[in-house]
Amino acid sequence: MSLDDAAVRASGLEEIAPHLQTAQRSVAALGIDPETFVPRFYRTLFGYAPGLRSLFPLAMETQHSRFGRALVHVITHLDEPSTLIGFLAQLGRDHRKFDVRDEHYAVVGQALLVALADTGGAAWTDEVARAWAHTYAFLAGSMQAGARSDPGPAWWGATVVGHERVERDLAVVRVRTDEPFVYRAGQYVTVETPQHPRLWRALSPAVAPDRSGELEFHVRAIGYGSVSRGIVASARPGDRWRIGPPMGALDRAVVPGRELLMIGGGTGISPIRALVEQLERAGGRPERAVVFYGARDWDSLHALDGLRRTSYRNPWLDVVPVVEEPPAVPGPLVGRLADVVTGFGSWADCEVVVSGSPAMITATIRALRVAGASLDQIHYDPFVTD
Ligand SMILES: Cc1cc2nc3c(=O)[nH]c(=O)nc-3n(C[C@H](O)[C@H](O)[C@H](O)COP(=O)(O)OP(=O)(O)OC[C@H]3O[C@@H](n4cnc5c(N)ncnc54)[C@H](O)[C@@H]3O)c2cc1C
Ligand code: HEM
Ligand code: HEM
Repeated sequence: MSLDDAAVRASGLEEIAPHLQTAQRSVAALGIDPETFVPRFYRTLFGYAPGLRSLFPLAMETQHSRFGRALVHVITHLDEPSTLIGFLAQLGRDHRKFDVRDEHYAVVGQALLVALADTGGAAWTDEVARAWAHTYAFLAGSMQAGARSDPGPAWWGATVVGHERVERDLAVVRVRTDEPFVYRAGQYVTVETPQHPRLWRALSPAVAPDRSGELEFHVRAIGYGSVSRGIVASARPGDRWRIGPPMGALDRAVVPGRELLMIGGGTGISPIRALVEQLERAGGRPERAVVFYGARDWDSLHALDGLRRTSYRNPWLDVVPVVEEPPAVPGPLVGRLADVVTGFGSWADCEVVVSGSPAMITATIRALRVAGASLDQIHYDPFVTD
């Protein structure tokens, strides 16, 4: 993959581009394998700066610190500079909630370069070393600039005001922030709960912002999940949460006059529910909107009643339930969301929102592309790779 020259020039990245290219080309020769590189990086980092250990999860082995893996992901995906700067600015802004300060970037950079040198052996030439030093300075500088440019708080304190276990493994949780929290329908936030300090997880408000100042989340406890199980089983009114700045822009899919296809799997329906609520309230509507809402079985389609009621009031909206396991009574469509949706056609002339688990997002985007949709019509949030 090559760097996009026009984008580089447009965003003032011209000077750094050759270094990014050299660094990117060196990845294979250095032999960076996350399984060995990540522990080596942390050992080096905490050797230089033991004080930084307190910023990370309590038990790094069982609670999987994400930083090391994320860093490997970033340094092995250095292409697409046009999207890089915006992404890094948001990441830097978000890092304020981890208590990361300007001075931490230098020691992390030092640890990264030493770990890379140890890993690379003979492939770590002077030229490669110089390229990585510039590359890290660029990544860190963009993140620090993003952090400085945000006048808002690093996080909001919030109190749980409602916790209802609507299924064995699904809870509807309402929280009220101490200070007003401004977000757009379809965005997500990260939260930290008292049950699992320092483990931040993404959750999507299931309602459009309103004057009550409350956020509502639908949380599904997943198999071995620490935070999600903690929230579903143990969150209580009165618990104090921290909420990170709002992120994502699924609302870019809403273009007046254009058709909108929204595909939500499981709790991935939450941002779609918020978008639909916002559209009903505020107008600026697409020509027509279709929601495909999928879950394992009929009972797990917890948001269906509400969505259906909205569609009865609004002729521009259709809601199509899809289940994976054949139901006892006929009714919903049966199959994988990706297959059912693309069975209706290519959807080439509309904007598409895809929201759900990592596996669902990957499968759905792949199926849409095979059916003829292009990537720039498709809107989705980043998701955890592991
Ligand atoms: C943008 C975004 C929005 C999100 N919105 C919501 C939401 O509104 N409601 C909600 O309940 N969750 C939502 N999630 C998922 C949530 O952030 C957590 O990833 C999830 O709750 C698991 O966290 P955990 O600590 O319980 O599990 P972890 O301890 O992080 O993971 C335990 C194991 O489960 C696997 N795993 C992680 N996530 C999933 C998954 N989704 N499906 C299957 N296996 C998985 C991991 O690979 C790991 O092996 C969202 C995620 C993203 C990226
Ligand atoms: C170029 C520099 C950096 C990059 C690209 C980077 C990238 C990332 C990413 C992508 C995440 C995961 C975010 C999430 O899951 O929500 C993360 C988490 C984190 N980062 Fe960074 N980061 C950088 C610098 C730093 C620095 C300087 C520190 C300070 C020590 C730091 C500390 C953390 C912490 C504490 C976490 C969360 C805890 C965890 O789960 O590991 N990062 N980083
Ligand atoms: C929590 C943070 C992140 C998550 C969960 C994440 C997730 C993903 C996933 C799932 C992909 C597609 C699959 C792959 O090629 O591996 C991807 C691709 C990519 N990511 Fe990230 N990412 C994160 C952070 C970043 C950051 C901080 C950057 C850059 C600064 C970045 C740059 C890229 C690029 C350029 C690609 C495209 C690579 C290609 O097409 O080959 N990512 N990311």
